[in-house]
Amino acid sequence: MTVRRAITTDATGLAELAKVTFPLACPPGSAPEAIAEFVAGALSEKRFVEYLADAGRTILVAEDAGGLCGYTMLVAGDPTDPNVAAAITIRPTIELSKVYVLAGSHGRGVSAPLMAATLDAAREQGAVGIWLGVNQLNTRALRFYEKSGFRLVGEKTFSLGPELHSDFVMERALENTSQSGRQVS
Ligand SMILES: CC(C)(COP(=O)(O)OP(=O)(O)OC[C@H]1O[C@@H](n2cnc3c(N)ncnc32)[C@H](O)[C@@H]1OP(=O)(O)O)[C@@H](O)C(=O)NCCC(=O)NCCS
Repeated sequence: MTVRRAITTDATGLAELAKVTFPLACPPGSAPEAIAEFVAGALSEKRFVEYLADAGRTILVAEDAGGLCGYTMLVAGDPTDPNVAAAITIRPTIELSKVYVLAGSHGRGVSAPLMAATLDAAREQGAVGIWLGVNQLNTRALRFYEKSGFRLVGEKTFSLGPELHSDFVMERALENTSQSGRQVS
């Protein structure tokens, strides 16, 4: 398994990966139509082409013999959500906007190196803090983020089509040392 920066030609694979992994993060009872609407609007191949061309976004992919098995996306800049802006305390910050690994690769040593390389990429951009939003019922992700050094600092909402979901906001400091030892750029 390797972790690397995504490139333009990864847009198709990223959209395929996002389509199957986004539903894993949605709480039980989420309407399939709302999930499909979100995937079509925010996680299409066209959107990934745009994300990959956006200097404010950094996408890392985990890849094994079967192809892409995980990805993360960083979004530079201070948060625009007032609840998040009030909750976080470490600036300059960066958002860990997406962390998704194929279900078959959960608990199999993909997510930790992907996270370590992503934290390194965040450091490379000059951030000293990093924050994320995670659904309050996503206990597996909450545990993973806790293991990865994030702590709960607040709450926010997330719109999934017509549904309003409750997220926790988590934050961690970025120490000035690489944790992965990997080349990420
Ligand atoms: C979040 C994600 C990247 C974490 O990767 P992972 O490989 O599953 O992470 P790990 O297995 O290292 O850690 C998960 C931890 O949660 C624990 N866990 C598993 N199921 C759990 C549950 N239902 N409730 C609480 N903890 C749970 C595991 O035991 C493990 O903790 P441990 O190492 O102390 O035993 C991955 O699960 C994922 O892609 N999930 C689907 C998409 C998603 O939810 N992304 C986050 C969006 S904010």
